[in-house]
Amino acid sequence: MEIDVRNAVEMLGRGSGKALDIGTGSGRMAAALSQYGYQVVSIEYNVEALKRAEQNLRQNGDLENVLLIHGDAHNLPFLDETFDVVATYNAMHHMTDYKKVLDEMVRVCKKGGSILISELNEYGKEIVAERHRERGGHHEAKISIEDIEEYLKNTYGLTGEIKNSEKADIFLCKK
Ligand SMILES: C[S@@+](CC[C@H](N)C(=O)[O-])C[C@H]1O[C@@H](n2cnc3c(N)ncnc32)[C@H](O)[C@@H]1O
Repeated sequence: MEIDVRNAVEMLGRGSGKALDIGTGSGRMAAALSQYGYQVVSIEYNVEALKRAEQNLRQNGDLENVLLIHGDAHNLPFLDETFDVVATYNAMHHMTDYKKVLDEMVRVCKKGGSILISELNEYGKEIVAERHRERGGHHEAKISIEDIEEYLKNTYGLTGEIKNSEKADIFLCKK
Protein backbone atom coordinates (compact mmCIF):
# COMPACT_ATOMS: atom_id res chain seq x y z
CA MET A 1 0.00 0.00 0.00
CA GLU A 2 1.40 3.45 -0.86
CA ILE A 3 2.41 5.54 2.13
CA ASP A 4 -0.17 8.29 1.47
CA VAL A 5 -3.01 5.78 1.16
CA ARG A 6 -1.85 4.04 4.32
CA ASN A 7 -1.65 7.32 6.24
CA ALA A 8 -5.19 8.15 5.11
CA VAL A 9 -6.79 4.84 6.18
CA GLU A 10 -4.75 4.86 9.38
CA MET A 11 -6.42 8.16 10.33
CA LEU A 12 -9.75 6.39 9.92
CA GLY A 13 -8.78 3.14 11.57
CA ARG A 14 -10.26 -0.29 11.05
CA GLY A 15 -14.01 -0.65 10.91
CA SER A 16 -16.85 -2.73 9.57
CA GLY A 17 -19.36 -0.21 8.27
CA LYS A 18 -20.29 0.92 4.79
CA ALA A 19 -17.72 3.11 3.04
CA LEU A 20 -18.12 5.12 -0.14
CA ASP A 21 -14.99 5.85 -2.18
CA ILE A 22 -15.35 8.66 -4.72
CA GLY A 23 -13.25 8.75 -7.90
CA THR A 24 -12.08 5.11 -7.94
CA GLY A 25 -9.16 5.68 -10.35
CA SER A 26 -6.88 2.65 -10.12
CA GLY A 27 -8.67 1.52 -6.95
CA ARG A 28 -6.02 2.26 -4.32
CA MET A 29 -8.38 3.78 -1.75
CA ALA A 30 -11.09 1.21 -2.48
CA ALA A 31 -8.55 -1.58 -1.82
CA ALA A 32 -7.29 0.08 1.37
CA LEU A 33 -10.82 0.52 2.76
CA SER A 34 -11.57 -3.12 1.98
CA GLN A 35 -8.36 -4.21 3.74
CA TYR A 36 -9.36 -2.13 6.78
CA GLY A 37 -12.62 -4.06 7.09
CA TYR A 38 -15.17 -1.83 5.37
CA GLN A 39 -17.84 -2.86 2.86
CA VAL A 40 -16.91 -0.56 0.00
CA VAL A 41 -18.89 1.09 -2.78
CA SER A 42 -16.62 2.93 -5.19
CA ILE A 43 -17.89 5.35 -7.83
CA GLU A 44 -16.07 6.45 -10.98
CA TYR A 45 -17.31 8.11 -14.16
CA ASN A 46 -14.59 6.87 -16.53
CA VAL A 47 -15.44 3.36 -17.73
CA GLU A 48 -11.83 2.53 -18.69
CA ALA A 49 -10.65 3.49 -15.19
CA LEU A 50 -13.37 1.26 -13.72
CA LYS A 51 -12.14 -1.69 -15.78
CA ARG A 52 -8.55 -1.14 -14.63
CA ALA A 53 -9.68 -0.82 -11.02
CA GLU A 54 -11.65 -4.04 -11.35
CA GLN A 55 -8.51 -5.85 -12.59
CA ASN A 56 -6.35 -4.44 -9.81
CA LEU A 57 -8.88 -5.26 -7.11
CA ARG A 58 -9.35 -8.77 -8.46
CA GLN A 59 -5.57 -9.33 -8.51
CA ASN A 60 -5.08 -8.37 -4.87
CA GLY A 61 -8.20 -10.17 -3.65
CA ASP A 62 -10.23 -7.08 -2.70
CA LEU A 63 -12.93 -7.22 -5.37
CA GLU A 64 -15.17 -9.33 -3.15
CA ASN A 65 -15.58 -6.41 -0.72
CA VAL A 66 -15.88 -3.65 -3.31
CA LEU A 67 -18.89 -2.77 -5.43
CA LEU A 68 -17.74 -0.70 -8.42
CA ILE A 69 -20.29 1.77 -9.77
CA HIS A 70 -20.31 3.93 -12.87
CA GLY A 71 -21.56 7.37 -11.91
CA ASP A 72 -20.89 11.05 -11.29
CA ALA A 73 -19.65 12.33 -7.95
CA HIS A 74 -21.65 15.54 -8.44
CA ASN A 75 -24.92 13.58 -8.28
CA LEU A 76 -24.38 10.55 -6.08
CA PRO A 77 -27.03 7.89 -6.67
CA PHE A 78 -27.54 7.21 -2.95
CA LEU A 79 -30.07 8.24 -0.32
CA ASP A 80 -29.16 10.74 2.40
CA GLU A 81 -27.10 9.35 5.29
CA THR A 82 -26.28 5.99 3.71
CA PHE A 83 -22.57 5.58 4.57
CA ASP A 84 -20.52 5.33 7.76
CA VAL A 85 -17.48 6.59 5.87
CA VAL A 86 -17.28 8.79 2.79
CA ALA A 87 -13.77 8.98 1.36
CA THR A 88 -11.96 10.33 -1.64
CA TYR A 89 -8.30 9.97 -2.48
CA ASN A 90 -6.61 12.60 -4.67
CA ALA A 91 -9.65 12.97 -6.91
CA MET A 92 -11.16 16.30 -5.86
CA HIS A 93 -8.94 18.35 -8.19
CA HIS A 94 -10.42 16.34 -11.10
CA MET A 95 -13.97 17.42 -10.28
CA THR A 96 -15.70 20.13 -12.31
CA ASP A 97 -17.22 21.59 -9.13
CA TYR A 98 -15.53 20.29 -5.98
CA LYS A 99 -17.94 22.19 -3.72
CA LYS A 100 -20.90 20.34 -5.22
CA VAL A 101 -19.06 17.06 -4.64
CA LEU A 102 -18.43 18.06 -1.01
CA ASP A 103 -22.17 18.81 -0.65
CA GLU A 104 -22.91 15.33 -1.94
CA MET A 105 -20.34 13.73 0.37
CA VAL A 106 -21.89 15.41 3.40
CA ARG A 107 -25.42 14.48 2.26
CA VAL A 108 -24.74 10.72 1.93
CA CYS A 109 -22.65 10.48 5.12
CA LYS A 110 -24.52 9.27 8.24
CA LYS A 111 -24.69 11.58 11.26
CA GLY A 112 -21.57 10.75 13.28
CA GLY A 113 -19.97 9.17 10.21
CA SER A 114 -16.51 10.05 8.93
CA ILE A 115 -15.48 12.13 5.94
CA LEU A 116 -11.95 11.40 4.75
CA ILE A 117 -10.40 13.49 1.99
CA SER A 118 -6.90 13.29 0.59
CA GLU A 119 -5.66 15.89 -1.85
CA LEU A 120 -2.27 16.40 -3.51
CA ASN A 121 0.11 18.72 -1.64
CA GLU A 122 2.54 21.03 -3.49
CA TYR A 123 5.17 18.28 -3.83
CA GLY A 124 2.54 15.80 -5.06
CA LYS A 125 1.28 18.32 -7.62
CA GLU A 126 4.84 18.74 -8.98
CA ILE A 127 5.43 14.98 -9.19
CA VAL A 128 2.14 14.29 -10.97
CA ALA A 129 2.62 17.23 -13.36
CA GLU A 130 6.11 15.94 -14.22
CA ARG A 131 4.77 12.43 -14.91
CA HIS A 132 2.17 13.88 -17.26
CA ARG A 133 4.76 16.08 -19.03
CA GLU A 134 6.95 13.02 -19.66
CA ARG A 135 3.98 11.42 -21.43
CA GLY A 136 3.36 14.59 -23.44
CA GLY A 137 0.34 15.52 -21.38
CA HIS A 138 -0.64 18.19 -18.89
CA HIS A 139 -1.88 18.02 -15.30
CA GLU A 140 -3.06 20.86 -13.15
CA ALA A 141 -4.39 20.65 -9.61
CA LYS A 142 -5.68 23.98 -8.39
CA ILE A 143 -7.25 23.16 -5.06
CA SER A 144 -5.66 22.41 -1.71
CA ILE A 145 -6.81 20.61 1.41
CA GLU A 146 -7.23 24.03 3.06
CA ASP A 147 -9.84 25.01 0.42
CA ILE A 148 -11.74 21.83 1.25
CA GLU A 149 -11.41 22.35 5.00
CA GLU A 150 -12.61 25.95 4.70
CA TYR A 151 -15.66 25.05 2.64
CA LEU A 152 -16.76 22.29 5.04
CA LYS A 153 -16.27 24.58 8.02
CA ASN A 154 -18.04 27.61 6.54
CA THR A 155 -20.91 25.67 4.94
CA TYR A 156 -21.56 22.88 7.42
CA GLY A 157 -19.64 23.85 10.56
CA LEU A 158 -17.56 20.68 10.19
CA THR A 159 -14.07 20.78 11.63
CA GLY A 160 -11.46 18.07 11.75
CA GLU A 161 -7.78 17.30 11.62
CA ILE A 162 -5.28 17.57 8.79
CA LYS A 163 -2.32 15.24 8.47
CA ASN A 164 0.54 16.12 6.14
CA SER A 165 1.71 13.04 4.26
CA GLU A 166 4.33 12.56 1.55
CA LYS A 167 2.57 13.70 -1.63
CA ALA A 168 -0.82 14.49 -0.14
CA ASP A 169 -2.53 16.24 2.74
CA ILE A 170 -5.32 14.32 4.42
CA PHE A 171 -8.40 15.74 6.16
CA LEU A 172 -10.66 13.77 8.47
CA CYS A 173 -13.80 14.99 10.20
CA LYS A 174 -16.98 13.61 11.77
CA LYS A 175 -20.35 14.75 10.48
C1 LIG B 1 -6.27 10.45 -9.66
S1 LIG B 1 -7.69 9.45 -9.78
C2 LIG B 1 -7.98 9.14 -8.08
C3 LIG B 1 -7.15 8.03 -7.50
C4 LIG B 1 -7.99 6.98 -6.81
N1 LIG B 1 -8.90 7.55 -5.85
C5 LIG B 1 -7.23 5.85 -6.18
O1 LIG B 1 -7.48 5.54 -5.01
O2 LIG B 1 -6.38 5.24 -6.85
C6 LIG B 1 -9.04 10.55 -10.09
C7 LIG B 1 -10.26 9.83 -10.62
O3 LIG B 1 -11.42 10.64 -10.45
C8 LIG B 1 -12.30 10.35 -11.51
N2 LIG B 1 -13.32 11.37 -11.64
C9 LIG B 1 -13.17 12.63 -12.10
N3 LIG B 1 -14.35 13.28 -12.09
C10 LIG B 1 -15.27 12.40 -11.60
C11 LIG B 1 -16.66 12.49 -11.34
N4 LIG B 1 -17.34 13.60 -11.60
N5 LIG B 1 -17.30 11.43 -10.82
C12 LIG B 1 -16.61 10.29 -10.55
N6 LIG B 1 -15.29 10.14 -10.79
C13 LIG B 1 -14.61 11.19 -11.30
C14 LIG B 1 -11.34 10.29 -12.70
O4 LIG B 1 -11.92 9.63 -13.80
C15 LIG B 1 -10.15 9.57 -12.12
O5 LIG B 1 -10.19 8.18 -12.36
